[in-house]
Amino acid sequence: MTDNVLDVASRSKLRDEYLKVRSETERICSLLQPDDYQIQSIIETSPPKWHIAHVSWFFESFVLPKFCSNYKPFNARFAYLFNSYYETVSTMQPRPKRGMLSRPTVDEIYAYRHYVDENMLELIETLDDSQYVDFHFRVTLGLNHEQQHQELLLMDIKHNFSVNPLRPAYNDNLTEPLQSDSKIQWIEREGGIVEIGSDGESFCYDNETPRHQVLLQNHKLATRLVTNNEYLAFINDGGYSRVDLWLADGWYHIQKNQWRNPLYWESHDDEWWVFTLGGLRKLNSNEPVSHISLYEADAYARWAGKRLPSEMELENKLSELPVEGNFLNHDLLQPQTSEQQWYGDLWQWTATTYSPYPGFKPFAGSMGEYNGKFMCNQMTLRGGACVTPQNHTRATYRNFFYPHDRWQFAGLRLAEDAE
Ligand SMILES: [Fe+2]
Repeated sequence: MTDNVLDVASRSKLRDEYLKVRSETERICSLLQPDDYQIQSIIETSPPKWHIAHVSWFFESFVLPKFCSNYKPFNARFAYLFNSYYETVSTMQPRPKRGMLSRPTVDEIYAYRHYVDENMLELIETLDDSQYVDFHFRVTLGLNHEQQHQELLLMDIKHNFSVNPLRPAYNDNLTEPLQSDSKIQWIEREGGIVEIGSDGESFCYDNETPRHQVLLQNHKLATRLVTNNEYLAFINDGGYSRVDLWLADGWYHIQKNQWRNPLYWESHDDEWWVFTLGGLRKLNSNEPVSHISLYEADAYARWAGKRLPSEMELENKLSELPVEGNFLNHDLLQPQTSEQQWYGDLWQWTATTYSPYPGFKPFAGSMGEYNGKFMCNQMTLRGGACVTPQNHTRATYRNFFYPHDRWQFAGLRLAEDAE
């Protein structure tokens, strides 16, 4: 096969991937009404309208002007509106005020998306071969970035809708996942020196590199996530009032915010209900418990006489398995029970702080702001969730959130030390 044939095949593959990711974002938004695009319920969430413009801004900032010398932005003032946190690129609309942007309208933002698409597709076809390697990397980064925002869109839509007293459903026809009553099982994992991190053979973020050695002790991992039923036993045992179970920051946080149950749980007439992307539903006791903070996950583990796994222990196990499970493409948008539950359903909190691996080098230039600058005060989560695109997850993937965050689809797996 000649280089030219390879290049043509790569361009056609990149074009297909580009179209697929961009259309998936629009499919997710196709269930929204124009009014839904505007809401920002808390400072952590962004209006859907802002998300779909921001992912286009990413291509307009990091790809189009670099490879197309006469590229004209759709609207030069959008750079201020839709830059998220790239301080070395431009100043930006303050994050808590993203919901103030009634203009541009939703129609104008879709026109912006399509303008970026036309220019991107033309570049994929026509770009000079000598620039293709860097271009391919940047487009792939932009597509992975957009996939992250697909998950953020669903997280944010869920929260935005949850604060509406009507409790509207994002999808009225969402299938109720089948939940089974499975007993928790444990597997023994032998310790020793193992390697974690990406070998760079396929796309990964900078925070997954370099691959390096770590030392694991003998340990045990539960084969499935903790369920609502199990978490209810913790609540009913006074779990939220027992100071001995909580990290100091967690105890402070639950007092300050009066937390007594996971996010989205509501008690009506002595029954628990839970808000989902399919609207308000009766709590299913066998479903994995979701939307808990690291503090709650940690307190539950301590109550159960166990601990949270480290990210190294989880990656070591995940690396032995195919990336299969309940992901966005299954369209359940809710976690499901299974006896062997490793990928999908819910991001799994770990006991590991989000820090650079030894020898970590951020992406070059402004793209270096993507991950590295957040390596302080956050914890890592592993495995992907029911709102994560399946091909966006891998064993080495490091998600990260603040310990008090709980609007993301996060749950917990138990671990314990072994002899
Ligand atoms: Fe972003």
